[in-house]
Amino acid sequence: MMSLVVDCDPGCDDAIAILLALRHANVKAITTVSGNVPVAQSTENALMTVAVANVETPVYAGASKPLKGPQISNDVSHGSDGLGGINRISHCRTSESVSACDFLVDCVSEDDWVVALGPLTNLAEALKRDSDWGKRIGGISIMGGSTSIGNITPVAEFNTFADPHAAAKVYASGAILKMCGLNLTHQLRVTDKTLALVSELGTTNSTFVATLLEFLLTRAEKLVGSRCAPLHDPCAVLAVTHPTLFTFEECSVEIETHGTLTIGMTVIDQRTTRPRLMPNALVATHIDATKALEVIVDSLETQ
Ligand code: BDR
Ligand code: CA
Repeated sequence: MMSLVVDCDPGCDDAIAILLALRHANVKAITTVSGNVPVAQSTENALMTVAVANVETPVYAGASKPLKGPQISNDVSHGSDGLGGINRISHCRTSESVSACDFLVDCVSEDDWVVALGPLTNLAEALKRDSDWGKRIGGISIMGGSTSIGNITPVAEFNTFADPHAAAKVYASGAILKMCGLNLTHQLRVTDKTLALVSELGTTNSTFVATLLEFLLTRAEKLVGSRCAPLHDPCAVLAVTHPTLFTFEECSVEIETHGTLTIGMTVIDQRTTRPRLMPNALVATHIDATKALEVIVDSLETQ
């Protein structure tokens, strides 16, 4: 099994991604960041998710604000608690005393991949402490950006927009990178059929996920008029645990950090005329969504 660290801002789809990672990888730790919700809340949501899963995975709290600029949140997408107002279960878990940045620099090795599901602030802080950090680890699988349209602005995706300076640092780090942007994650959509399959399982994890899916589907119905929602963050987990489900293209990815209209945009060289800019990432362009959904649902069968 691959060894992973999940860096995240739960977030309904982050929580589903954590459960998926726990089933298909050795999850060494979870690190948390401000993004969908402030870091205190994303940490509490990560702790609650590992309590639901009944595992002892340590949680390290990370950055509370982006490298530069204002903190933006995403309670429209995930509710003010980040998990769609789910009934909270009580637990007595707490985060570790070491910071996410220190954990990443001191404890992540060439055998570990980092799956990054929120703004890239913790990873950028690790690179500030050790500029070679990205080259010392197995690689980084990112949910963020887009080869086409954005979601938080016409051209920017939320995670990249929430800390574009951090994203720029990560894409320039020399690390082995996989990018699952909106162009990819919008191919993996959940519907009421998925919800029914998950609910039927009747496990603790599936009951938890069914509540999150119901929130995502209800929100999609309000926003776009149909109960059909993309499941972003699990894609970045599958990109390392099940890479054969994907098609990747080697591309240059750079981050716009200045543009008035384009800040947070992933500028991806997809020109068909050569030469192109030197590639620095494997950009996911296609996912076998049927098989991917099967893997996600099946991951909830036990516990
Ligand atoms: C990303 O933003 C968050 O709302 C989701 O958790 C996902 O990581 C999608 O743009
Ligand atoms: Ca996320």
